[in-house]
Amino acid sequence: MASSLSSCWALTLLIWGLLAVASMANFYSDFDITWGNDRVLNNGEQLHLSLDKYSGSGFQSKNEYLFGNIHMRLKLVPGNSAGTVTAYYLSSQGQTHDEIDFEFLGNLSGDPYTLHTNVFSQGRGNREQQFHLWFDPTKDFHTYSILWNPNHIKFSVDGTPIRVFKNAEHLGVPFPKNQPMKLYSSLWNADDWATRGGLIKTDWSQAPFVASYSNFEADACVASKSSASSSSPCKEASGSAWLSQEALDTNGQEKLKWVQKNYMVYNYCTDTKRFPQGLPPECSLSS
Ligand SMILES: *[C@@H]1O[C@H](CO)[C@@H](O)[C@H](O)[C@H]1NC(C)=O
Repeated sequence: MASSLSSCWALTLLIWGLLAVASMANFYSDFDITWGNDRVLNNGEQLHLSLDKYSGSGFQSKNEYLFGNIHMRLKLVPGNSAGTVTAYYLSSQGQTHDEIDFEFLGNLSGDPYTLHTNVFSQGRGNREQQFHLWFDPTKDFHTYSILWNPNHIKFSVDGTPIRVFKNAEHLGVPFPKNQPMKLYSSLWNADDWATRGGLIKTDWSQAPFVASYSNFEADACVASKSSASSSSPCKEASGSAWLSQEALDTNGQEKLKWVQKNYMVYNYCTDTKRFPQGLPPECSLSS
């Protein structure tokens, strides 16, 4: 197992040529606007996405990453944000793509946002976990992080782990590790399903809806097809302890338990109705 894992690594490194980078971003140099053009306000330090009746907006990273420790500070649509969804995710391309998702489902003023998470590997998702937050995410910027390494995927909010998806290849579950992913974000209307299952519609009299971004940081392996021979393997890079991190320490485990006990509102791993043939294999692993 260990040797097949490392030969896989070698292959991956050969094909992609990974470069370890730690970048404190500038929204100009790291991202391209992909949607909604003038609905995106960017001054380099902060970026604002907006949504009106006619269109949402979005951006994507210029770089593709193959493993990384990625942080973004976000302030979500305030007030009556019911029907809106702010998505912030990593994704590769194609039918058998991998994807690591944060999605923020808006709500009526005073009602909690739902933070929706999912992990796709080789085109298959259905691994939703949802949370409410322990603060109002529309009042201030908070840090939403994805740590993705060959051992696990860890979702954190302000440094508190909320979800860990472990590599369960030994149980026959594919794990995202060969397809480089870009970082995407968008703000769009999803009032057909987002808020209380689509019962509450977007109130367009409140438009434009605005979500704000700051302090993007990627400590990551940047994949580039062209530089295959030149770069040093990401694995060897100094200061990348995140790349070999295996699991949560005791403190992390306690925090994760606290979140799961108090703020988790849906977990596919306990949804026995949905999986009458038995829960997915990775659900047997503890964090
Ligand atoms: C909105 O608020 C209601 C009532 O507190 C809650 O049940 C629901 O999970 C919240 N989130 C969404 C996206 O509907």
